Amino acid sequence: MARTKTLPSDFYHSSSVFNQETESIFKNEWLWVGRSEELSLVGSYITTDIIGYPIIILRDNSNDLKAFHNVCRHRAAKVVSTKSGVCKHMICPYHGWKYDLNGKLMDTPKFYANDDFDEDNHSLFKISIEERFGLVFINLNQESKSLGEWFAGFDKVVSNYFDDNLVHHNELRFDVHANWKTYVDNYQEGYHIPLVHPQLNRDVIWQDYTLENKDEYSIHSVPERANSDQPGSFGWHFPNFIFNIYGRGIVFQRIEPLKPKWCRVVYNLFRPKNISEEDFENKEGKYQLEVSLEDQKLIPEIQQNLQAGIYNEGPLSKKYETGVAYFHDLYLTKLNLENNK
Ligand code: FES
Ligand SMILES: [Fe+2]
Repeated sequence: MARTKTLPSDFYHSSSVFNQETESIFKNEWLWVGRSEELSLVGSYITTDIIGYPIIILRDNSNDLKAFHNVCRHRAAKVVSTKSGVCKHMICPYHGWKYDLNGKLMDTPKFYANDDFDEDNHSLFKISIEERFGLVFINLNQESKSLGEWFAGFDKVVSNYFDDNLVHHNELRFDVHANWKTYVDNYQEGYHIPLVHPQLNRDVIWQDYTLENKDEYSIHSVPERANSDQPGSFGWHFPNFIFNIYGRGIVFQRIEPLKPKWCRVVYNLFRPKNISEEDFENKEGKYQLEVSLEDQKLIPEIQQNLQAGIYNEGPLSKKYETGVAYFHDLYLTKLNLENNK
């Protein structure tokens, strides 16, 4: 039986829980970090921070994507300090150690190494990397299952909507004063649509909202009203990857944990090639932003209350909040915590 109550409120702000999540969840799951088109040329690279780890992603000389921890094997400086670019090799800005595009240490200028130093044992630390739907995913656990296995049936659902005819429209980023789970909880139910999203409520029949929860993902389906070309289908894959069908396009979204009380929400909108940027922005772009801002107004207020020590846990609807229950069940299993339903 699924959970009937939410997670206890301290899960939404405790530093020790946050550290445990990093170890047990985020260091073992596939995390979306960028787009393939940002890395189209040999030597093109991007750097970013993911769950507190600086990383480098690049396209090597064999045209394969590679990912490394952005940490020099000498004295731990960031080897690449720029956000993006194209390079033939990487030179650490601290003492000039040089690495090739496979992360292999090539040169240690004027170093005067001790006898026990072996260049071959000082390559950059590797990270697993794969691509799907024009998106780049990494996994900090090199022993993890493949991205294809991880996606499982979720891949098929997204494939129904994603095709080569889509082009990147824009990226939106918001730092939100809320734990990442506060944001995911909100995503995982349509019960709040009538009061929080008036336009969406005019476009869909929220009472007929259904959820399919399985294989570590949830597919949300809601019938549209006549004369509306909005939704559709939405989907979330544990822990923080989301797709939304919006009218003529598709939106991918991730919810990155930044700190116990802060998350970053990143949206990438894609539109069909034959639709102009302006046309799409005026319709789907505006719509997406409006719905998102409606949620973002509310979520930090919920977070404040989760931290206040007044409320501990609340009941979940067995009809409309099965997605939240499923998320919490999965979450506790991944943390190896007892699930007191
Ligand atoms: S820390 Fe990179 S060369 Fe010294
Ligand atoms: Fe919402």
